[in-house]
Amino acid sequence: MTGAVERERILTVRNLKTYFRTPEGVVRAVDDVSFHLDRGEVLALVGESGCGKSVTAHSILGLVKAPPAKVDGEIVFGDRNLVGLPEKEYRHIRGKQISMIFQEPMSAFDPLYTVGRQLMEVAKAHMPWGDGEAKERIIDTLKSIHIPEPDKRYDEYPHEMSGGMLQRIMIAMALITSPDIIIADEPTTALDVTIQAQVLNLMQDLQSQYRGSIIFITHDLGTVAEIADRVHVMYAGKIVEKAPVAELFASPIHPYTSGLLTSRVRREYKGQDLPYIEGYVPRAYEFPEGCRFHPRCPKAVAKCSEVQPPEFEPAPGHTVACWLLEEGDDR
Ligand SMILES: Nc1ncnc2c1ncn2[C@@H]1O[C@H](COP(=O)(O)OP(=O)(O)O)[C@@H](O)[C@H]1O
Ligand SMILES: [Mg+2]
Repeated sequence: MTGAVERERILTVRNLKTYFRTPEGVVRAVDDVSFHLDRGEVLALVGESGCGKSVTAHSILGLVKAPPAKVDGEIVFGDRNLVGLPEKEYRHIRGKQISMIFQEPMSAFDPLYTVGRQLMEVAKAHMPWGDGEAKERIIDTLKSIHIPEPDKRYDEYPHEMSGGMLQRIMIAMALITSPDIIIADEPTTALDVTIQAQVLNLMQDLQSQYRGSIIFITHDLGTVAEIADRVHVMYAGKIVEKAPVAELFASPIHPYTSGLLTSRVRREYKGQDLPYIEGYVPRAYEFPEGCRFHPRCPKAVAKCSEVQPPEFEPAPGHTVACWLLEEGDDR
């Protein structure tokens, strides 16, 4: 996207905090997260397992249930704040204007009904279509994402399909209402590499066809390079770095981002599954003081264990929450 193109802001998340009360303590799964999404762009949310990516997605979709969860902050979609929106109103948004592609396709379908019937249910719940038109639109959608023999697929049950096919049907289900935003939560993790590539291509197609926006969630930076416009890196409930995709790969600044990139290259080189970065994501009810990454950070200094770093902006559109960027820093 160039500067000349008019940008339309479609979603603004401000100071989002999603906490869970548990017997072990309060889990601060998402802790003061802010970001925005423009129409037609693909925003990638990246980080190791347990960093709060899914909880962020579920918060946007109103799927986090209180109690024991508590959602604070603002999620502005169009001109409405979705935080605290009654379920009755959320139902008009979820699945219609904002839809989700889940990691495990089986969980999105009821094994007792044909996929056609389930697609029909979504279509008719949100669109002013009669049976005939709804079916036509569904078949068209299946065709548009290159599903072979869509009429035959329509009458099949979930268990009659491969995981990859079901994943594609789930994408069709998310598309049927031409949503403004699709949130794809690790949509390729359970798939083999060839099908992963197909699914990524489909998502790119749909983005250009519908000019929909995508929040693409993944722990794998490799898939991000191909599909995203901007990348936000999450660690322990916080966004630690935000950057345009090319800039993030060319000049990562946060030591956590660098670690993710280095371990990715190393894994590709050795062809084996190595841990990303030494150590583990701390459990969400016992985050350390100061910067949450400091116990694993090769560049940490005393201050890092004491005070949480603010967001610095070393280049326009590139922000980093790290004390390394403090002015006058001589490291
Ligand atoms: N319903 C819940 N109750 C308590 N803790 C939860 C709940 N859902 C998620 N969490 C915790 O929130 C943190 C973030 O989880 P999640 O967003 O699923 O991570 P990610 O998607 O990045 O792997 C984890 O520590 C997880 O255990
Ligand atoms: Mg997740």
